[in-house]
Formats: sequence, structure tokens, C-alpha cells
Amino acid sequence: MKNKYLYIQTFGCQMNVHDSEQMVALLSGTGYKLTDNIKLADLIILNTCSIREKAAQKVYSELGRLVKLKEQNPELIIGVGGCLAQHLGTKFHKKALHLDIVFGTHNIHRLPQLLVVIERERKKITEIDFYKSINSIGVFAPPQRGAVSAFVTIMQGCNNFCAYCVVPYLRGPEMSRPADDIIEEVKKLADCGIREVTLLGQNVNSYGKTLSNGLNFTSLIKKIGKISDIERIRFTTSHPRDLSDELINCFAEEAKLCEHIHLPVQSGSNRILALMNRGYTVEEYIKKIDNLRKLSPSISITSDIIVGFPGETKKDYQETIDMMKKIRFDSLFSFKYSERKGTIAQKLEYKVEESEKLRRLEQLQMLQNQHTLEKNTALEGSNQELLVEGKSKNSENDLMGRTSSWRIVNFKGELELIGKLVDVKISKAYLHSLRGKMVNK
Ligand code: 5AD
Ligand code: SF4
Repeated sequence: MKNKYLYIQTFGCQMNVHDSEQMVALLSGTGYKLTDNIKLADLIILNTCSIREKAAQKVYSELGRLVKLKEQNPELIIGVGGCLAQHLGTKFHKKALHLDIVFGTHNIHRLPQLLVVIERERKKITEIDFYKSINSIGVFAPPQRGAVSAFVTIMQGCNNFCAYCVVPYLRGPEMSRPADDIIEEVKKLADCGIREVTLLGQNVNSYGKTLSNGLNFTSLIKKIGKISDIERIRFTTSHPRDLSDELINCFAEEAKLCEHIHLPVQSGSNRILALMNRGYTVEEYIKKIDNLRKLSPSISITSDIIVGFPGETKKDYQETIDMMKKIRFDSLFSFKYSERKGTIAQKLEYKVEESEKLRRLEQLQMLQNQHTLEKNTALEGSNQELLVEGKSKNSENDLMGRTSSWRIVNFKGELELIGKLVDVKISKAYLHSLRGKMVNK
């Protein structure tokens, strides 16, 4: 089979990153080899995101850059997949005349066949049908050589309809993947050298609800914990409303479950949380954090916050700041509210001015940076176990590993340590990483 080259660019979340890995796996079976040189490509895929307007704009500007390449090479095939493709459908072809394929979030498995049609007939294709289950979910994406950590999709879609969010419209209803398929995939990954898996879903806490065998998320984690070559288990994302005591206990019971939870709170105002349709109060959220910290004292807690949701007053915003001071997150992703077409929040009144959103965001991020640095500095002098992921980005002579709490640590060590668990003593803390020195176990 003649080699053809595939260049793929991923926008957005970990779910999209993993979808791209599955596209690469599917297309390698039809003769496409991955390249990081866009000029070599016979096929370019942009795996798009539309969670915020900024993400969508990035896609448009990248697409604009491809016009020239298509002019130089009319045989070049350009495809867009992911959430923005699902949202725009055929309209995408009108926006970008050089596009060949638009495929939605449930249509990844159709890529090989769609490419055959394009190569034969050179016609424009749009495929955005929803299926009962995503057929590509079980496609095994072999990890890159030397990779230590991998994503595993355990469920698709979302039923929550948070007022600001497009995901339920673009990824369809929630559906759990059978546990046996997940276990089989994790075992295969372990055989390829993977030592850490991150279980992916929009709301992993409700794993199992669409299955008939009574298995829930905690039992799934415990089953994966029994796979001997897997050293660490992570998951993302949890919905605070569905975070059960059983899962909180699991942090204390399951040694392989990392001491980190990403628990998006979105706002510190009960009024705004209700408008957002989140289904919990700040007090309930804080209670869960207290329980997590009681059972697992060194757990790191990260979160997402949106500022400037419609109707967010200065008082509501101040309540978010007060909550942050009370909780002191280890790290935080924060965003300006971005209006999305078709969502519940689009119809709400009292939109917050863009300049005010920016002011709130900058102030909140300054506060979080203080908290992050304080949390990191508290680790100076402590011993931490790292899973060594590879060479450091900062220096050729250093390695990089992550603590159980998801912090990056750079340290001096031999390449053969990659993929192993090592102990380091933390010598210096920075905002985005730590420096450490290896210690003997
Ligand atoms: N505007 C701003 N942020 C959003 N998010 C989701 N939708 C929007 C939106 N319309 C954020 C939420 C979510 C994270 C993945 O993206 O904080 O947790
Ligand atoms: Fe969006 Fe809410 Fe579902 Fe998360 S839980 S994907 S924020 S609708």
C-alpha cells in the first residue's frame, strides 16, 4: 500500500485529543502515515472545538491558512471533524470552499470510507448523523512509542444541559461503554508500555447508568486497579452533583487512584449556579471538598470557573472570590462566559459587558496564581513519587515526571527511568512546575 501522509491538528479538550488519536489509528489502516510537516500532507484534518467562541475563531483562522496549500496542491484533501463540524454541518462548506469533508462527533468511524469516496469522485461530503453509540469508541489507538500515559474513553455524550454549554447538543446523549471493553483496552495499553490511564467522559460519576449490569464508576476503577502493569489511574471530568461518598472513599481505598480530582465548580454564587442549571449549592460543593480532604489529606483539587455569566452581579462575582479564598484550589481553569447558539443561557437577559468580564477574569486569575504558588511552595522539602513521562521541555539533560497530584517536576535522571516510578525531594517550587532531586527509595 502506498504511503499517504496525514496531518492532524486538534483544538479543545482531552476528549478531542483522544478522538484524534482514534482517527490516526483508523487511517493508518488505510495507508495514511502521521506527519508533523503540513507541507507533506495528502490529508489535513482539523479536529475542532466550539465550547467557546475563541476556540471556534482559532479554527477559522487555521482553516484560512490552508487555502494556499490547497491552491498549490488541488489533490490535497481537507477535512474538519469535532464539535464545530457537528454544529455547522453543510454550512461549513459555504464558509470554507476549500473543504472536502465535514464529519461530526459520531462519524469518526466513517472516515476511511468517506476518503475512498472523495479520492474517487472528488465531491464534497458532510456526515453529521448521530448514532445510538459512537462506533469509533472501541477503536484501539496504539500509544506513541515511549508513551507512559494514555486516555481511555469510558462514556460518551452528556445529559446535563448546563445552561451555558453546547456539549449535549454536539456530542449527543450520555452512554456508558461496557466495562469488559474498557478493561480489554486498558490491558492492551499496559502491554504497549502504558503505566497510567486517564478515564474520559463528560460526567464520569454517572458511569454505568445506561448499563444493565449495575456496575458503577467506583467498581470500574477498582477493576482497573487489579491490572498489574497499570500503576496509576486518573479520571476527568466529574460533576460535583454526582460525586458520591463511595467515590470519595475510593481515593482512600484504591492505592492506584491518583490524589487529584478536577471538579468544576463554575461559580461561587448559588443564584448563578441555579441559573446555570448545575444542580448543587456552594455549601454542598464545599462539603464534598471537605470530605475529600478529610479522607485524602494531600489530594489536589482543581476546578473550572466561568466569569460574567448572564446576570452575574458584582456581588455574585465577589461570592466566587470568597469561595476561592475558602477552598484554595491547587489550580484553576477560568473563562469569560462565551455565548453559544442554541443554549439556554443565550436567551437570558442582563448580559455582562466584555470589558467587565475581562476585569473579573484577570482579578480572579491573579488570586489563583497566588494560591497555586502557595500550594506548590508548601511542597518544598517534601518527598514526592513521580511517574517519569519523558525528557523535560526545559532542558535536554533533565527528565519530567508528574506527582500523583498532577504537578510537573523536572529533575536530573537517566533516560531508562522513563515509565518508572521514582522518588524525588522537591527543592524549588514555581507557578507551573516544581524542581526536584532523586532520592533512593
Ligand atoms: N463559556 C465559557 N466557558 C465555558 N465552558 C463551557 N461552556 C462555556 C461557555 N459557553 C467551560 C466550563 C467547562 C469547561 C470545559 O469549559 O467551565 O467546565
Ligand atoms: Fe457541558 Fe455541563 Fe455536560 Fe459538562 S456537565 S459537558 S458543562 S453540559
